[in-house]
Amino acid sequence: MNKNVATEFSYAVPVEGTDARALLSPAAVHPKSLLDLPSGEARESLLAVHGILRAVLPPGKLEIYEAGGGSTSFLPLSVLDRAHVTVVDIDEDQIRNNDYAQQTILGDIQRHRFERETFDLVICYNVIEHLPDVEAALLRFCEALKQGGLILIGAPNPKSLSGVVTKYSPHWFHVWFYRHVRGDKNAGLPGQAPFPTFFHPLVSLPRLEAFARAHGLQLIYRREYESPRFPEMRTRKPVLAALLDGFAVLANLLLPGKADVRRGDYHVILRKR
Ligand SMILES: C[S@@+](CC[C@H](N)C(=O)[O-])C[C@H]1O[C@@H](n2cnc3c(N)ncnc32)[C@H](O)[C@@H]1O
Repeated sequence: MNKNVATEFSYAVPVEGTDARALLSPAAVHPKSLLDLPSGEARESLLAVHGILRAVLPPGKLEIYEAGGGSTSFLPLSVLDRAHVTVVDIDEDQIRNNDYAQQTILGDIQRHRFERETFDLVICYNVIEHLPDVEAALLRFCEALKQGGLILIGAPNPKSLSGVVTKYSPHWFHVWFYRHVRGDKNAGLPGQAPFPTFFHPLVSLPRLEAFARAHGLQLIYRREYESPRFPEMRTRKPVLAALLDGFAVLANLLLPGKADVRRGDYHVILRKR
């Protein structure tokens, strides 16, 4: 069974587009990864990303490269349905569990090269924080992208509360958090999140934007949003969530600027000029 298609839905998700699309169930329009997100900024931003992809990607058959795609896609089903998807992932178990790609390649996205101008879309979602050399991967994406093609990056914000904790805590703590706070019993098993993190400097949004400017990539969408871990915790672990929310309010007051330290993740869409 395709794990990217939700098998049940019990809550409404805004459905964008035509009247016909609005008549479809959320499970027929959105990937399970989106329906699994708690209501909040993360889901809002992913819906906005989906709207842009539907509007900007060319009509007809699409060539998509999911770099570090693992076994879960965050793309809208209407895009996946008309795409030939190539996944490159370094983890054998992730590749084995992938059920949505037409082609899977066991490899390292920092080194793997495709023919120039092959893809309409490169998506690298929840991956760049795991790479020791983000620049090498981004350069490979640029050369593999057609002119006018898009790069979608979803990544953690290193300057947020969750970013700082993830960056400076050991891997065993990440596994503990996934198991005991998120309730994911499989966390840390082969092919299962969390994966070891490096937080190369290019994961930071200002540096990523500077890289884009220097390499002929136009920024067409950028949003920092509250990490979905917060709404998840408010439901699963309300006391811990209240403590962290209190800490975040205090940090927001004391730190310079108007940033909310709960904005733990971002989406960026870049277009090759
Ligand atoms: C957190 S998972 C994200 C998977 C999927 N994109 C998602 O959002 O569910 C990170 C993925 O990156 C892969 N990965 C990490 N380093 C990699 C590398 N150098 N080359 C290819 N894949 C890599 C891991 O094996 C894992 O599947």
